[in-house]
Amino acid sequence: MELVLFRHNRSDGPVTFAEYCAAGGFDALKRTLRELSPLDVQQLVIDSGMRGRGGAGFPTGKKWSFVPRDLPGPRYLICNSDEMEPGTYKDRVLLEHNPWHLVEGITLAAYVLGVSHAFIFIRRGYETPAGNLRAALAEAEQAGLLGDNILGSGFSLKVDLHVSAGRYICGEETALMNALEGKRANPRAKPPFPAVRGLWGGPTVVNNVETLSNVPAIVRNGPEWFRGLAAIPEAAGTKLFCFSGHVRTTVCAELPLGMTVGEMIDGPAGGMRPGSRFKACIPGGASTPFLTAGHLDVPMDFDTVAKAGSRLGTGGVVVFDHRTCMVAATLNLVSFYARESCGWCTPCREGLPFVRHVLARIERGEGEPEDIDILREHVKFLSLSFCPLAPGAMGPVEGLLRLFEEEIRDHIVKKSCPFGSGRPGA
Ligand SMILES: Cc1cc2nc3c(=O)[nH]c(=O)nc-3n(C[C@H](O)[C@H](O)[C@H](O)COP(=O)(O)O)c2cc1C
Repeated sequence: MELVLFRHNRSDGPVTFAEYCAAGGFDALKRTLRELSPLDVQQLVIDSGMRGRGGAGFPTGKKWSFVPRDLPGPRYLICNSDEMEPGTYKDRVLLEHNPWHLVEGITLAAYVLGVSHAFIFIRRGYETPAGNLRAALAEAEQAGLLGDNILGSGFSLKVDLHVSAGRYICGEETALMNALEGKRANPRAKPPFPAVRGLWGGPTVVNNVETLSNVPAIVRNGPEWFRGLAAIPEAAGTKLFCFSGHVRTTVCAELPLGMTVGEMIDGPAGGMRPGSRFKACIPGGASTPFLTAGHLDVPMDFDTVAKAGSRLGTGGVVVFDHRTCMVAATLNLVSFYARESCGWCTPCREGLPFVRHVLARIERGEGEPEDIDILREHVKFLSLSFCPLAPGAMGPVEGLLRLFEEEIRDHIVKKSCPFGSGRPGA
């Protein structure tokens, strides 16, 4: 199995500039500035089949192609390193081990987009990753790989690192732009889409850390090579998956896209904890509907996980064992979203605390049979909110209703939690 992003990781600190260069680092940038046009690089990324690793899986090269090339004024590139989704910690691990993929990737993407000022928006509290990035950006500039007139090519790029004020909504791309502009971090209406009117009104692309970090290897080794890294022909590349919950090993691993959920849990996650049997997992961060034991042979790729009724999301796999109360697990997830609602639109501000309230009373054994229909209505109703936060929060609720309705009814009939109010991770 060939690794791309974790290839040179070591346990005693981040990969150094010299080590990255010795392994072919910055070769892609040097070759690009010598012999490739922005559209050549964009085409390589389109041909590679690379899909965004920030959650939605949108094709990266296609996103870049939406930026109009003829509008006057500056354009911007933002790297989203906010990573506040529970169960997701891949960008942190990547930047703790190797900030260089991102430094080279952001430079290549900026070259494609005609951007001369880029931003890395990083989660508050990510002090080691931020420190690694600050040092790497300074070192790259000293080596002439960032800043004015990079390697004498005439292309210049300034990269600013911005630390988030610390709310989950700041990771939503339009709220992120408001935050960078110093405004309250509410999402903006779309259209206009950021590719046309984004940061300070200029065309803007927002990409995830892992997405941009893959670009140098795609340019260096070619799109065919990248596609061939996946375990199934429909997928492309590797992906960082993070495991937590009732598995033996809490770990972030780079794996071929298309490995099955079962293979991942038995492999890098070390299997279930002693005495635990697999009951369910969320495959891609807190906003993704549950998968159950019947899904253990589903290949973990964007389209196949969607066909199975969930989403690959960020690849944050949280595993629940046979003793987990799924009502309590869902309540735990919804409580996070209710707390993090920015309050801008009514369905989210009022709806999420109400769904939390209904789940809490079911879990306590005080639910009524009509609560199931109330939850179902809210899954529909909250999809009408202004941004994807509330629909995301309803992902686990939808999964709970579809896959564990009997378990909800059990709470209501027995007037207590059949699992003794077991919270996940306990
Ligand atoms: C509430 C909310 C929080 C988000 N947080 C993040 C985040 O922390 N990191 C991220 O890359 N994308 C996050 N996203 C998705 C971004 O809006 C955007 O789609 C993503 O950064 C695009 O990157 P990609 O095309 O490389 O996948 C979030 C979306 C929502 C609705």
